[in-house]
Amino acid sequence: SGQMTSDVKYVLVTGGAGYIGSHTVVELIQEGYVPVVLDNCCNSTKGKDQRSLKRIKLITGKNVIFYEYDLLDKEKLESVFQKYNFFAVIHFAGLKSVTESIEKPMEYYEVNLGVTINLIECMKEYNVTKVVFSSSATVYGPPQKLPVDEDHRVGKGLTNPYGKTKFFIEEIFRDLAKAEDGWHIALLRYFNPVGSHVSGLIGEDPQGIPNNLMPYVSQVAIGRLPFLNVFGNDYDTHDGTGVRDFIHVVDLAKGHTAALKKMDSIDGCKAINLGTGTGYSVLEAVVALEKASGKKVPYKFGPRRPGDLGDVHANPNLAGKFLEWRAVKSLDDMCTDLWKWQTMNPQGYEITP
Ligand code: NAD
Ligand code: WQD
Repeated sequence: SGQMTSDVKYVLVTGGAGYIGSHTVVELIQEGYVPVVLDNCCNSTKGKDQRSLKRIKLITGKNVIFYEYDLLDKEKLESVFQKYNFFAVIHFAGLKSVTESIEKPMEYYEVNLGVTINLIECMKEYNVTKVVFSSSATVYGPPQKLPVDEDHRVGKGLTNPYGKTKFFIEEIFRDLAKAEDGWHIALLRYFNPVGSHVSGLIGEDPQGIPNNLMPYVSQVAIGRLPFLNVFGNDYDTHDGTGVRDFIHVVDLAKGHTAALKKMDSIDGCKAINLGTGTGYSVLEAVVALEKASGKKVPYKFGPRRPGDLGDVHANPNLAGKFLEWRAVKSLDDMCTDLWKWQTMNPQGYEITP
């Protein structure tokens, strides 16, 4: 592509205006990389996602190179590969609502698989061989053994199209790495990301009623929602409610820059858990947010949510050994930072400045 060779390490960040992507863009900048964000801003009211990029400038002092493109538009995607000689790609872009995927499976298969196939074809054409993919603990299905480690079987007992897209994309990357030499592919399996940058300037801004626990609890605490429905208190856990491996989104973001430093040591494809190794129950998480906010969070016990599991938490040792990375922030840190975001942005990213 006749690119100027330079020592600038451009990193393509697909979906980089989103929750985890924006936190990772901050860490990339602070580690000296130059992120190039491609995001169609579909998961927010038009233009709101650019707010996250403007906030990144407030945090880092740097403008973020941004293209509001849909990765399903291969021509647009290719035009960016023509422009930059990418050191690597971090691939966040995709649809991620479990409940929505059950209602609209074809949209999830078209988008999540479609954007990935376009991306891989462009990477092949422009000889970009390093990619970090946003996978999810959901690929494990109901764990047979706890804590879950990376050689646990995947793809069995998946209860929703969203989770299946994660598994199918992992399979695409595994088959690609089997068929062709020279690929360096990290499949980072996130457990339950929570919280916000310590500044409170960027955070999770779910559209409509949050599906995930902690944004929901935070909106109850600030008075946007009346009470929390606890989905089941008859699980085989210490207090009967679900147990999850909550991980601070900034620890998660740092796991990505740690992975970038190790890509040459990945010959082919490697799955790595990004979790803390500690599980907390729904009720423990509620108490932690009440402590951080000083607010009461009323809740009611209701029936289990279909497809939910009892206890899921990671064995994080491979990340510790291979990435030389560990989560260091506590549940209290997650709740303190989440609450700061929520109080500074009671309605999320406002469209008006
Ligand atoms: P998010 O919705 O905030 O970020 C995804 C971004 O991708 C959004 O900004 C959206 O606009 C963009 N996008 C979607 N379709 C696109 C397309 N066709 N072209 C360009 N951009 C597109 O979600 P998130 O929580 O930041 O998750 C990021 C990734 O991590 C997703 O792949 C998600 O499945 C995965 N993940 C998230 C969690 C979690 O609990 N948040 C857990 C495991 C895995
Ligand atoms: C956590 C716990 C619920 C909401 C999902 C996806 C996973 C990833 C993270 C995308 C469970 C309970 C929740 C509520 C509740 N997303 N809960 N009341 O289900 O572990 O994982 O989100 O990649 O792929 O599967 O996260 O936050 O939805 O639920 O009681 O209003 O909180 O039953 O025990 P989950 P969650």
